[in-house]
Amino acid sequence: MKGKSILVTGGAGFIGSNLVDTLYKDNEVVVLDNLHTGKRKNLENAIKGRAKFVEGDAKDIKSIKGDFDFVFHLGIYSASPMYRDNPNLVGEVVHGITNVLEYCKESKIPLVFASTSSIYNGIEPPHREKVIPGVTDFYTEARIACERLGELYANLFDVNVSAMRFFSVYGYNDIGKGKYANLVTQFMVSLIKGEQPVIYGDGEQRRDFVFVTDVVDALLKASSSKGFNVFNVGTGKNYSLNEAMERLKKVTGKNIDPKYIKMPVKNYVMTTLADQSKAKKEIGFEAKVSLDKGMSLLYSSISSKE
Ligand SMILES: NC(=O)c1ccc[n+]([C@@H]2O[C@H](COP(=O)([O-])OP(=O)(O)OC[C@H]3O[C@@H](n4cnc5c(N)ncnc54)[C@H](O)[C@@H]3O)[C@@H](O)[C@H]2O)c1
Repeated sequence: MKGKSILVTGGAGFIGSNLVDTLYKDNEVVVLDNLHTGKRKNLENAIKGRAKFVEGDAKDIKSIKGDFDFVFHLGIYSASPMYRDNPNLVGEVVHGITNVLEYCKESKIPLVFASTSSIYNGIEPPHREKVIPGVTDFYTEARIACERLGELYANLFDVNVSAMRFFSVYGYNDIGKGKYANLVTQFMVSLIKGEQPVIYGDGEQRRDFVFVTDVVDALLKASSSKGFNVFNVGTGKNYSLNEAMERLKKVTGKNIDPKYIKMPVKNYVMTTLADQSKAKKEIGFEAKVSLDKGMSLLYSSISSKE
């Protein structure tokens, strides 16, 4: 993408900052982020470049003046435990996306926003976009509401809206999320420190791990799609946590076994596996980075900062 004007909510976060890093050299980029989990330092290079940072909440998007071509809305509270601790975040998220959709309607611009594969909790894999989600937790209820509002704005006001169901994203800048970071990142950090990674249950739960550069590619590809669309953003391959651990031991050279603890979470997601056929057919998205490759890219990046 080149020569565009782009507003990114949540751009100081993990995925958002990777998106901004891809965009800021060739485009005008404004980031709106309330720094709930995001960090200014994720945007160091972008701010030194041409990106502008505004600290504020997504629901106050109206205060951002500009003639934008697209909005990417990633500024949505990003982990299930946050909502369990404070169920009122559901209302915050709905408030946020409603104002973002109003903004896109008034400016006649498309919206691409972060949804989640957690919507598939309890549903037999492989996961296809056309499922009826079950009722499992606050985080997914908020995201289902966002998707439905997106569809409503597309139906009523012709806003082009893409809901991106991210699977387990790992990669650069994830480390800043601490206890909310992807398991690959958390386990890698533990191994580097010489500590035992902690696994809930027996480690046979499976995840479709997708590297962040692939996620950025999917977001950009979705920005030109028309009407309302839901797209999976995964790889179509999954690994158990035990399998991921074995790979991580090799990448880090640390032969430390994980510590298994009794499953502490109710309604835990046991398996995610994306069916990528719709995203491939409709927006030409296909993940390119294998788990081994992604782990070694992440390891080099973490090691170079030590
Ligand atoms: N990382 C994953 O594996 C994954 C998987 C599925 C869905 N997602 C979704 O993708 C989005 C980005 O996730 P991430 O992994 O980069 O997490 P993140 O926590 O690093 O990013 C979220 C960013 O949004 C900001 N934010 C949160 N609420 C906001 C609000 N109301 N107004 C403005 N800014 C706000 C945070 O400060 C942060 O910078 C989130 O919505 C998350 O739920 C992520």
